[in-house]
Amino acid sequence: MDRLKDKIILITGGARGQGAAEARLFVSEGARVVITDVLEDQGRALAAELGQSASFVKHDVTSETDWAAAIAAAQALGGLHGMVNNAGIYQPARLMDTDVQLFERHMRVNQLGCFIGMKSVVPLMEKSGGGSIVNISSVAGLRGSPGAIAYSATKWALRGMTKAAAVDLAPKGIRVNSIHPGPIDTEMLNVRTTEERAARLQLVPMKRMGTVDEIANLVLFLVSNESSYITGAEVAIDGGATL
Ligand SMILES: NC(=O)c1ccc[n+]([C@@H]2O[C@H](COP(=O)([O-])OP(=O)(O)OC[C@H]3O[C@@H](n4cnc5c(N)ncnc54)[C@H](O)[C@@H]3O)[C@@H](O)[C@H]2O)c1
Repeated sequence: MDRLKDKIILITGGARGQGAAEARLFVSEGARVVITDVLEDQGRALAAELGQSASFVKHDVTSETDWAAAIAAAQALGGLHGMVNNAGIYQPARLMDTDVQLFERHMRVNQLGCFIGMKSVVPLMEKSGGGSIVNISSVAGLRGSPGAIAYSATKWALRGMTKAAAVDLAPKGIRVNSIHPGPIDTEMLNVRTTEERAARLQLVPMKRMGTVDEIANLVLFLVSNESSYITGAEVAIDGGATL
């Protein structure tokens, strides 16, 4: 299929996990992708696997200078129509075990990174005739999640930032939506023990983790024109975990 024919899409944190699945799917749908990450070897290997439709930029989302380089890579391809703010860290700890450094680390990557990203892409997206931004939040941005106060703070923030940006950017033809995955089978969850992961699945009515391909299909819908009247929405993709 060609649902992203002639589209150029930037995916942060795209070297592995959900971002990598999105890169593969988007290319199969006709897009060219700019994959960015701090994981240089994995990012370059993925771009090589995807051939001429993909490029990789080493990019720390907390750095405005790095963002400028990522945007320049999209510009070199001819424009920018979609951006997935996917990069994130998850270092769970309860309130009383969270120090200021851990809190700030989450804020910088998960929240500030998304803020700089949305700001950075607007001029090129506008020049490209409009576009779609998808912010990857979490079910931790929809309800109280145990033992992850810093992570939760940032994922709730993304939900609000998405709506504020959607209002600001609608006149420019740029849509902004957030998605809220439940537990997805990626390396990010390796910080939890097998027992903790099993206990978490008990809270999921569908009693299983989601896959990266299920996430990629939803993000594809939101970056493509198939969702052309959807902006400011928060879409849970969680096997019913937030019901
Ligand atoms: N896995 C889950 O259960 C789950 C659930 C809900 C939401 N999420 C969110 O989904 C997104 C993708 O996570 P994933 O599950 O694929 O995990 P992952 O750990 O495989 O992917 C996260 C990616 O972000 C990159 N990254 C981290 N810090 C960065 C920085 N400063 N600059 C650029 N890149 C950076 C990592 O190198 C990694 O490639 C994250 O935002 C995460 O919070 C994950």
